[in-house]
Amino acid sequence: MEIKSFGVIGAGQMGNGIAQVAASSGLQVIMNDINTEFVERGLQTIDKILARGVDKGKISADEKEAILGRIKPSTDIKDLAGADFVVEAATENEPVKFQIFKTLDEMCSAQAILATNTSSIPIGRIANQTNRPDKVIGMHFMNPVPVMKLVEVIRGIATSQETFEITWQLSEKFGKTPAEANDYPGFIANRILMPMINEAVYCLYHQVGSREAIDTVMKLGMNHPMGPLALADLIGLDTCLAIMETLYDGFKDSKYRPCPLLRKYVEAGWLGRKTGRGFFEYN
Ligand code: CAA
Repeated sequence: MEIKSFGVIGAGQMGNGIAQVAASSGLQVIMNDINTEFVERGLQTIDKILARGVDKGKISADEKEAILGRIKPSTDIKDLAGADFVVEAATENEPVKFQIFKTLDEMCSAQAILATNTSSIPIGRIANQTNRPDKVIGMHFMNPVPVMKLVEVIRGIATSQETFEITWQLSEKFGKTPAEANDYPGFIANRILMPMINEAVYCLYHQVGSREAIDTVMKLGMNHPMGPLALADLIGLDTCLAIMETLYDGFKDSKYRPCPLLRKYVEAGWLGRKTGRGFFEYN
């Protein structure tokens, strides 16, 4: 099956990055969100990042315009009815995602593949909202999407081999390296990453070190590109907390309990870069 028309639901941090890499690979893309403001903001981000690429001589000005020209903005989910492959990158909220998958299932052709960029909701639970669980799969991109090489491809219990292979090939077409995971809480990426971030927050909570010391240890001692607290700010502390809750609920193992300090920050609205304050402050 050749993917010609590609849809993305969500024009936020992850959605606009996915739209950018899909359009850069030559696909026609429909980028959908619930209102014009969100879609416009997503397009502006893509424009800004492509402009940086032009300044650095990585792409030409004509290529930038061609990529932008392949992204059709949309605020009506029905615009995705003709898409061969849709990636949902909406907010990490079960009822929201369930409704989107029900709608896509009713609207899209029987052959269309419906993927989710969820970082922690079980693929099987999302697939169960549709009448095509064999065509539902996890396609988990990393933030920032245009830079990070990985796509975690997650098989739900009912995902067909054909759906898996098409998603794998599409990830490669996007210039990414796919890695296969099965449908258990946090899959691979967040099963490993989030407990590390949570432990860094515990170090701050127990005053083992300052925020600067904790991040410096991991950056210079372990060669991580950024410290775990700065990374939590990039991901969003609400997302980090939600993923820890998923691990904790899913395994019923106390080793996954979220740090009370993480919860406190989220309750205060200190969600990281997106709100201007998390473990660090941002302008
Ligand atoms: N969007 C697009 N491009 C970006 C970007 C963004 N938000 N941020 C940085 N870049 C680009 C820069 O333009 C630069 O490009 P060139 O190489 O062409 O010059 C390149 O990335 C490097 O950027 P910088 O020199 O400014 O800074 P850096 O070297 O410190 O890299 C970083 C920034 C790529 C974010 C790096 O710090 C990094 O890799 N951090 C870790 C990110 C990570 O772990 N992501 C996974 C999060 S987990 C997740 O996403 C899944 C989940 O479910 C929670």
